[in-house]
Amino acid sequence: MSTVLLKDVTKVWPDGTIAVNHVSLDVEDGEFLVLLGPSGCGKSTILRMIAGLEDPSEGDILLNGDPVLELAPRDRSIAMVFQDFALYPHMTVNDNIGFPLRLSGMETNNRLEKVGDVASALGIGDVLGRKPSQLSGGQRQRVAMGRAIVRRPGLFLMDEPLSNLDSGLRAELRAEITGLTRELGVTTMYVTHDQAEALTMADRVAIMRKGVLQDVGTPTEVYGRPATLYVAAFLGAPRMNLLEASVYVHLDQYVTLNLGEQALYLPWNDIRARAVAHYHGERIVVGMRAEALTPVAPDVPGDVLRGRIRYLEHHGHESLAYLDIGATAIVVDEMGTGKPDPEPGGAFRRFGSTLQKLTGRGSGATATVQPPEERVSVLDPGRHHRRPAELAVRLAPYPAVSPGHPLSIAVRMDMLHFFDERGDRIDVGWR
Ligand SMILES: Nc1ncnc2c1ncn2[C@@H]1O[C@H](COP(=O)(O)OP(=O)(O)OP(=O)(O)O)[C@@H](O)[C@H]1O
Ligand SMILES: [Mg+2]
Repeated sequence: MSTVLLKDVTKVWPDGTIAVNHVSLDVEDGEFLVLLGPSGCGKSTILRMIAGLEDPSEGDILLNGDPVLELAPRDRSIAMVFQDFALYPHMTVNDNIGFPLRLSGMETNNRLEKVGDVASALGIGDVLGRKPSQLSGGQRQRVAMGRAIVRRPGLFLMDEPLSNLDSGLRAELRAEITGLTRELGVTTMYVTHDQAEALTMADRVAIMRKGVLQDVGTPTEVYGRPATLYVAAFLGAPRMNLLEASVYVHLDQYVTLNLGEQALYLPWNDIRARAVAHYHGERIVVGMRAEALTPVAPDVPGDVLRGRIRYLEHHGHESLAYLDIGATAIVVDEMGTGKPDPEPGGAFRRFGSTLQKLTGRGSGATATVQPPEERVSVLDPGRHHRRPAELAVRLAPYPAVSPGHPLSIAVRMDMLHFFDERGDRIDVGWR
């Protein structure tokens, strides 16, 4: 049993690389927390600091409420499983799993019983006599997990443990890992760059970008109310459609979201209209997931976007149509790669501090969303992160349409997301 608390932790490598930038994070006892983010965002560095393999440059780490920075790794009651786990090739499965127990001086009978329990829980009870070279990749990964868990650690740290396995095996082991850790009640921090893995496994997901914690919450919270444009774009498949919109307010009636050749109208009685209305005469980003978009007959009135199919993707259980709707898309992959904002006191910053307060999370999560050092406007023309929008819409499997075909799409206005020019969520701050 363990709780983990990271207090304003920063890691700067000797070459000046800021791997972890003022991260505060709280993991509850028995919780399965997934650290999610692209390659190089600092996930492994966080785990290694908790395990005691690296020291933070600043900040504090507490396990069960006690500072641990002075404690050696072996005194932290932590087990860690890596992507490139190493088994002892000359030892049997039995000896590999039992190795930590032998080191701790446990007598043989006791040890065999414990190894047997763990091996059968992991479904490898029948290969205990084999050597690693006689096992499949999945079996080897289970042995590595068995070796980590046999000591009954208080905290389980897993760094992309499934990334070397094929997708079928990954799915199977995902369920096994969450099942096993929940059964044992062991607090787990699990690192992955796979958003589907994070959403399916986690009690809560912490999303990182370039060393900065972007958002923390249950899968429903971070998917349903992403704190930043980056989180919105990172979670979900197909990706959220992110369109540039100019805002025009018709007081007490509606807010026009001008998307280029077409517009949507946010009714004044939608509580979000007041927040969006602050941006009158400015540009914002409107996010729509595929589930907010439904193909309808051409003459259906209401909140409808019209376009032509540019191309189709067939996924078996569904098809995706990508529509040309005469709008501009914001490409988030390239966010932050441009020059720093040339106008730090620019108009859109008026609401920055308010928004920061408003986007703070409730629900017990104690994440601090830190502004990265250089914030760039994602809407600035001339940068390479705008392009003609291809609106992703879900269709039935193998629909009787083809590229060039016109489609009308009803938009669920209550399911739209709004982000300001810096990529922060525009909202009224409740959850
Ligand atoms: N020993 C080191 N010296 C200098 N820089 C390092 C060192 N280890 C990691 N880094 C840098 O720190 C940053 C974070 O690395 P880290 O390994 O934590 O990323 P990650 O999120 O685990 O990525 P991946 O998904 O690729 O494993 C990267 O920019 C990396 O190049
Ligand atoms: Mg890593």
